[in-house]
Amino acid sequence: MSVTIIGIESSCDDTSAAVIRDGVMLSNIIAGQAVHEAYGGVVPELASRAHQQNIIPVVTEAIRKAGIEKNELSGIAFTRGPGLMGSLLVGTSFAKGLSISLDVPMIEVNHLQAHVLAHFIKESPEDNDQPAFPFLCLLVSGGNSQIILVKGTDDMEVIGQTIDDAAGEAFDKCAKVMGLGYPGGPVVNRLANEGNPEAFKFSKPHIPDYNYSFSGLKTSFLYTLRDHLKEDPDFIEKNKADLCASLQATVIDILMNKLSKASKDLGIKEVAVAGGVSANTGLRDAFYDYAKRYGWKIHIPKFAFTTDNAAMVAITGYYKYLKGEYCPMDAVPFSRVVL
Ligand code: KG4
Repeated sequence: MSVTIIGIESSCDDTSAAVIRDGVMLSNIIAGQAVHEAYGGVVPELASRAHQQNIIPVVTEAIRKAGIEKNELSGIAFTRGPGLMGSLLVGTSFAKGLSISLDVPMIEVNHLQAHVLAHFIKESPEDNDQPAFPFLCLLVSGGNSQIILVKGTDDMEVIGQTIDDAAGEAFDKCAKVMGLGYPGGPVVNRLANEGNPEAFKFSKPHIPDYNYSFSGLKTSFLYTLRDHLKEDPDFIEKNKADLCASLQATVIDILMNKLSKASKDLGIKEVAVAGGVSANTGLRDAFYDYAKRYGWKIHIPKFAFTTDNAAMVAITGYYKYLKGEYCPMDAVPFSRVVL
């Protein structure tokens, strides 16, 4: 009998619902929240309200687009955390209501695990390009920068992570001081394509193991701006593209350095990237380059699966459903967690 799972994602500022049947995606609907743009970052209170407004239309559309009736659902998967508490409460409460009304199990999903398992979403039954275990996954987003050793769909070990800022945060914070708006990552990426990555040198961390640090880079970037602005008030405007290209090159260098060290040490050449920052074209190019130079078998997500989406929640829920890993009705969201 086929297994049909609906995934619900509401951890930050995207309301999303997706239907997956036997591992194959039937729909993936995402409603973003433009309301935060004016504030230069996500405003938690506004995010929860927007989730309340969006969740019913998004779920209805996901079911309609999948071409199923809701009584065909085998289980309800939802993001339990980490994320913004008010946002998570909307998805969690909705999942409980749907689960009770359809009398099907509810499955909790860890958002970070879901980002990794996004690589297992099949867009058609013939889609067989999933990573083989064990593989390394670089998870880079606005809140996380981790190297994960993935031994199975439910067996993941964080072997390195940031001790301060995340990679996406570094992009966003540096973009903010250049007045590039929020989120800054995509803007930096666009401008970087027109700039010289060697124009400026920013400091790189010297920390042990497979851990990351981006706060020093942020400070070094700020000091560069401060020093040049003293001489030329139009420095940022005149050097935007070069600043972005140099910033992006430094972030990528830091990320790839530790990732390749882990790959060498562990003898693992199957390497994936996930999370919002995996949309970065420079980072993607670095992966293609490493594949060519070091024989890596790489897995780069489609752009639609880089940012928050419910298809990754549904696929994670699917694997947990197959193992009978259901969640009790008194489950509460968690805002912080490691894998
Ligand atoms: O995974 P994600 O959607 O959610 C959060 O962690 O909140 O990641 C969002 C992050 C933001 O920091 C955003 O600036 C960054 O991903 N991002 C990018 C690009 N697209 C999104 N960073 C660099 N280049 C991009 N093209």
